[in-house]
Amino acid sequence: MAETLAEAVAAVGREMDAHRGGGKVADYIPALARVDGNHIGLSVITVTGETAEFGDAAVPFSIQSISKVFTLTMALERMGDLLWARVGREPSGSRFNSIVQLEAESGIPRNPFINAGAIAVTDAVLAGRPCDEAINDIREVMRKLACDEVIDVDEEVATSEVATGFRNYSLANFMKGFGNLQSPVEDVLQTYFHQCSLRITCRQLARAGLFLATEGLDPLRNARIISQEHARRINAIMMTCGHYDASGEFAFKVGLPGKSGVGGGILTIVPDKAAIAVWSPGLNEVGNSLVGTLALERLAARLRWSVF
Ligand code: DON
Repeated sequence: MAETLAEAVAAVGREMDAHRGGGKVADYIPALARVDGNHIGLSVITVTGETAEFGDAAVPFSIQSISKVFTLTMALERMGDLLWARVGREPSGSRFNSIVQLEAESGIPRNPFINAGAIAVTDAVLAGRPCDEAINDIREVMRKLACDEVIDVDEEVATSEVATGFRNYSLANFMKGFGNLQSPVEDVLQTYFHQCSLRITCRQLARAGLFLATEGLDPLRNARIISQEHARRINAIMMTCGHYDASGEFAFKVGLPGKSGVGGGILTIVPDKAAIAVWSPGLNEVGNSLVGTLALERLAARLRWSVF
């Protein structure tokens, strides 16, 4: 008989124990460097509401670049296809904070998941408002999608991101110079750094991403979050750009749309079936969770989950 979801998650969890502590925890700011690299959390929620978890599924971590999925959702809802005049949807083949393509491409970032693209998307979410308002808005969206009020910004992480975010300042100033940011650079980056500094658990993250598995309709609340067309496009971009220049490798090994963050989290969507969140802080050489990627590879193989 085929393995159940609970059995598959438990088996992958046991396998991951052998890899515990693998990879290198991000150390560009002290608040992230302090995180214990031995954590492993995994949470799966299906479109019918079945859940299965392993390890530290209820321990909060820094969402970092996974927040870009949710601000993209918000920006697409706000401006629709007009957003694509300001950001492309082509894999960059470069590191997440690379500036080289921006000049050649006149300040239009390759895609919404590299930093430059995410900063342009955040500017669209900000929409000329004070940044506190936009930060509250993003946090409220996360709470609503996760069906959990306990999601907050880690102010220590946010302050350190601002203090060390020189490359992001360069990217934002460069785009501002090309007329691709509407709000002041400082406001856009304050918002961007705060969205990256949200603390979230695997359980909350999987629940928050579930609408992407069901073409934009939250299946458990029967609430439309985003149009079918936009949900499909977000999944496509997660598949092609969600792991920066390791996106091809992730598609090859896992075969599902995913978005990683430097905090060690990965959100993965199984269309029509489930959302998966995994967290393990140690990163591989391209900056994606080492054990998290491995866990997703094993889980997808066991359950025969793939878009291909
Ligand atoms: O923009 C930055 O530098 C970070 N706050 C977010 C980077 C991130 O998660 C990149 N991805 N893996």
